[in-house]
Amino acid sequence: MCSSDLVTVHLPHHRYDITIEPTVLDRLGVLVRNVAPHTRCLLVSDEHVMALHGDHAIGSLEHADYHVIRHILPAGEKHKTLDSVRDAYNTMLDAKLERRSPVIALGGGIVGDMAGFIAATYLRGVPFIQCPTSLLAMVDASVGGKVGVNVPQGKNLVGAFYQPLAVVIDPLVLQTLPPREQRCGMAECVKHAVIRAPDQFDWLHENWPKIQAMLPATLTELVAWNVAIKARVVEADEKETGERAHLNFGHTFAHAIESTRGYGIIEHGEAVALGMVAATKLAIDTDRCPADTLPKLTALLTKIGLPIKTKLAPIEQLMQAMQLDKKVADSHLRLVLPDRLGAVSVINNATPNQLETAWKFIRE
Ligand code: GLY
Repeated sequence: MCSSDLVTVHLPHHRYDITIEPTVLDRLGVLVRNVAPHTRCLLVSDEHVMALHGDHAIGSLEHADYHVIRHILPAGEKHKTLDSVRDAYNTMLDAKLERRSPVIALGGGIVGDMAGFIAATYLRGVPFIQCPTSLLAMVDASVGGKVGVNVPQGKNLVGAFYQPLAVVIDPLVLQTLPPREQRCGMAECVKHAVIRAPDQFDWLHENWPKIQAMLPATLTELVAWNVAIKARVVEADEKETGERAHLNFGHTFAHAIESTRGYGIIEHGEAVALGMVAATKLAIDTDRCPADTLPKLTALLTKIGLPIKTKLAPIEQLMQAMQLDKKVADSHLRLVLPDRLGAVSVINNATPNQLETAWKFIRE
């Protein structure tokens, strides 16, 4: 048995445990029953994850005496829509699920965001449990209660803050994750190290071969320290009125890359890697950050196999896309820039020239 970890998120009106433990999927039913006892539950997953881990999760829930209703979402960002949510409501209404029936999200970030939105809105809110199966969902999306869907005008523009009652993470499921998805999850781990934990930056360098080899103890440690950082940020600022914005390091550039290149062509984690490089270049050019931060960052990203340069849409289009991002307040673009490894600040005074130089730096 490999080591396990428990991180508790303490919020003013709610607290919940994040259990990180190899083979904990065997105990999913017991952990759900501890927080949401009922006769029936809804398991939300997508077709890929269902094929890999559905039987395991359902077996555990049935063993804990749940009658499991399944709802399989079509996989992919383009199905993260209100239409998909409506289909799930129909499944729940047909099955006459009640206020106490928990919704369990088994999948990556898209499944978790949608299942959370469904749980937040069905009967004005039912119990919600996250069981993330991708590295990105484990270290970021499953913790902190951001749930929602995309609309034609943009990503995640309709949603809510709806905290889960528990997060159940089995790092062994990462062993079925395609390498590209693993690398994409690593982008959020690098982000956490840059914004809060310089020691973990060195840890990532040293441990990347073990992570790549999917050693259970290393995966558990990786997920645990990342979840702990995310939990502390969310505790300090649940609704993103302050420091939670630090988690957007690299994301304003990333969202502009994704929306101009097309979702699915570039993965979110790849865009975040590029966005972190652009933001760091801007920080150095404006004398906010030591110059050696950039080669340190690009060396780690390259070691992991994440991009540091890419084909980009024309700069004007990228600038417009940035202005549409949620991080625009009172017409000012807000950017998270590193002060050094381990600390970031939010700025709102980047000039068009500075932004253009940063974009050109990551253009292939
Ligand atoms: N993924 C950023 C946040 O949860 O705030």
